[in-house]
Amino acid sequence: MLIPFPARLTRRAGSCVPTGILAGPGTRGPARLLAAYTGLPLVHNGPSIRLALRPGFGPEEYTLEVTPGHALLTASTEAGLLAGVQTVRQLSPRLPCLTIRDAPRLPWRGVLLDVARHFMPLEFLREFVDLLALHKYNVLHLHLTDDQGWRIEIDGWPRLTGIGAWRAESMVGPAGSGVFDGVPHGGFYTRRELRDLVAFAAERGVRIVPEIDLPGHVRAALAAYPSLGNRPSVPQPVWTEWGISPDILGVHDGVFAFCRDVLTQVAEVFPAPYLHIGGDECPTTQWETSTAAQATAARLGVAPAELHPWFLGRLHDIVAGLGRQAVCWDETGHAAGRLPAELVVTAWRDAAHGALAVARGHRVVMAPHTSTYFDYRQSEEPGEPPREPVTTLADVYRFDPLAGGLPVSDGTGPGVLGTQAQLWTEHAPTPDHVRHLAFPRLCALAERAWSPPGRGYADFHRRLTGHLGRLRALGALPKERVRFAGAVPVSEKTMP
Ligand code: ACM
Repeated sequence: MLIPFPARLTRRAGSCVPTGILAGPGTRGPARLLAAYTGLPLVHNGPSIRLALRPGFGPEEYTLEVTPGHALLTASTEAGLLAGVQTVRQLSPRLPCLTIRDAPRLPWRGVLLDVARHFMPLEFLREFVDLLALHKYNVLHLHLTDDQGWRIEIDGWPRLTGIGAWRAESMVGPAGSGVFDGVPHGGFYTRRELRDLVAFAAERGVRIVPEIDLPGHVRAALAAYPSLGNRPSVPQPVWTEWGISPDILGVHDGVFAFCRDVLTQVAEVFPAPYLHIGGDECPTTQWETSTAAQATAARLGVAPAELHPWFLGRLHDIVAGLGRQAVCWDETGHAAGRLPAELVVTAWRDAAHGALAVARGHRVVMAPHTSTYFDYRQSEEPGEPPREPVTTLADVYRFDPLAGGLPVSDGTGPGVLGTQAQLWTEHAPTPDHVRHLAFPRLCALAERAWSPPGRGYADFHRRLTGHLGRLRALGALPKERVRFAGAVPVSEKTMP
């Protein structure tokens, strides 16, 4: 009942119940993690699970050999051992005799968690990271800032968290509903808390890619520092609505100093090679009327709307100067034509936009909303979130990030780097809401990202039954049926 299913598995008769773990040279980290998962001691006698580093495997590849007397987990890297540890964790405590040779289909297997729309406690982030590892996801894309909240402490900019992390109330229901809950909401993480989370994730083979959403989705930053915007004399509170705000960053020098300072500090906290700079849903109307923006556009000889790819190019240069690779959202595939080819693109609208970005030379994370936005309702049941279209477990399982024969990127050249799920939290105020949105759809996408295609949905569904028992035991599923405020009952929705 393994999820995701290994690339190759040969089952034999018999089983092994190990009583200890034997850590070969250089395998202490994965061995300790396995000990924590299984409760087995790190000892040298009896039937054991032996971990060994050997050359000859791919970067995340491993083999697992189980005989009645012992189990042997081998890889060339810690990442490979960590992937194997999760397989052993799923098979424990009675390991069936088998041979597994396993490696991922895609190098980027991610999940975005939006902690800006609703702040999530650190304990939940740790739990969530461990559940990602269980499914062999290796990226947590942490959406740290948005119109409705700024969640990371930044030295020298105390109002970002003093003001920007708190909002007076939240909209209930979909964007534009006009209904508010009257309940203040907020929270933020200190850099030390985030560093600890980074270390916790690294022990599990998960790297955290932080996102600072720029130059749109910045109302929280503008509430803290109105001078960063285009209309400093019209102060705006942290946004209490959902949707797309017209308030975006200005294009004056102080703004780029701010961006540089923030991105530098973010890079100090998060050692991942990638740093997400946002770039989505950025209406340029305020730049059409801002004298500073008009002057910059005139100097560059472009229309104010063209400042958007220019702005992202500047952020890319800042991130490159920090020795990191910038990632941005791409909505149409068109921006990709005007951005540095080294920019990694998260393609969130149609898969065709992702294909276009690949054709233009980018590395692309395929995240088409109709298959990977898990804030969308997963059934027609009442109480599901007010987000359409329905994206069922089967829809997710049917999604192929390489559809149309797209190439996999080798990490440097153009192609598909991988895929990721999006857990936007406008309508998910608590960890239980997130758990409901995440599971079991994350299980389906995990298999798409890791396993070679070919096993059908029925086979996945059979394995899922046992896997859900495991998730329940781990506390990964909501304790009781979750309802989403502002959900439109289906009967009402379909009435004329
Ligand atoms: C997005 O959904 N605005 C990336």
